[in-house]
Amino acid sequence: MLGRLAKEPPFRILARAILKRVPVSVETRALWELSERPQYLVGVLAGAREARRHGIDEICVAEFGVAGGTGLLALEEAAAAVEREAGVRIKVYGFDNGPSGLPPGTGDYRDHPDWWKPGDFPMDVEKLKRRLTPRTQLILGDVAETVDRFVEEVQDAPLGFASFDLDLYSSTRAALRILSHEKRRILMNVPLYFDDIAFLVNHRFAGELLAIEEFNEEGNVKIDRWYGIRNNRPFPERPFLERMYVAHDLDAITRCSLSRANVRLDLKSSSPLIELEPRLRKRDGRARGIQTSRLRK
Ligand SMILES: C[S@@+](CC[C@H](N)C(=O)[O-])C[C@H]1O[C@@H](n2cnc3c(N)ncnc32)[C@H](O)[C@@H]1O
Repeated sequence: MLGRLAKEPPFRILARAILKRVPVSVETRALWELSERPQYLVGVLAGAREARRHGIDEICVAEFGVAGGTGLLALEEAAAAVEREAGVRIKVYGFDNGPSGLPPGTGDYRDHPDWWKPGDFPMDVEKLKRRLTPRTQLILGDVAETVDRFVEEVQDAPLGFASFDLDLYSSTRAALRILSHEKRRILMNVPLYFDDIAFLVNHRFAGELLAIEEFNEEGNVKIDRWYGIRNNRPFPERPFLERMYVAHDLDAITRCSLSRANVRLDLKSSSPLIELEPRLRKRDGRARGIQTSRLRK
């Protein structure tokens, strides 16, 4: 009751101001937007919860498009906070072209020459590296080349959250390979954030929205809006919420069956399956580890 009242418009600003000044759980920080980039904390927390639901104890999270690193540092902080409370280890990766900034791209309307210019956002790599902790690794180079190599040679835990802030349709299209690569390692439902989809110039025939449309025309991982993300939030009108999406691995979902004996249904929660003990099984009856065994093949 008190919780519901606190979220009402006359009280919510005061409630947030109080919560900012007291130690609260990472869940409360995500709900009340008490972190630097709430979209990152909300995404990483949801990814960690999804991992736990599947009995997975380590994930990685990624930011595509790092530039000066403000976002990557916020992602690193979110990962550390969620790891401390959720009991899931979290590695952080930042993908960027480095000092050369935005690549030339397609040269037509799809990459918004009305908005971006090749060479925008050059990165000072050494300066940023000095600020990062060992949790975080920079993957430098054009994502058209680095993403496949990352999946094949570097990635050792399933992707649990990704932010796309590469600005260009062509770069986003290439980066989405992390979700569709034949050797992909991803959670069954991966929370995503797309930064450039809600400005006046954005439409589904260019930019990140076109990259999502084309991605969904191929393969059996589909990206859709994160329906219901606004539910029960004290500030449901916040613009970042409409930029949150989820990638669903349809084949992996088909391969699952639940053991109801171990699952309590909580229909009031935004995530209705609250497990008492993680127990998802393959249809052939072998228990546990479905994601990791599939992804390691
Ligand atoms: C808007 S900036 C990112 C800002 C950053 N997320 C932040 O919050 O501070 C976009 C970045 O995407 C990178 N980028 C765009 N296309 C790329 C590509 N094909 N490969 C690698 N990096 C790319 C650029 O180098 C640039 O640094």
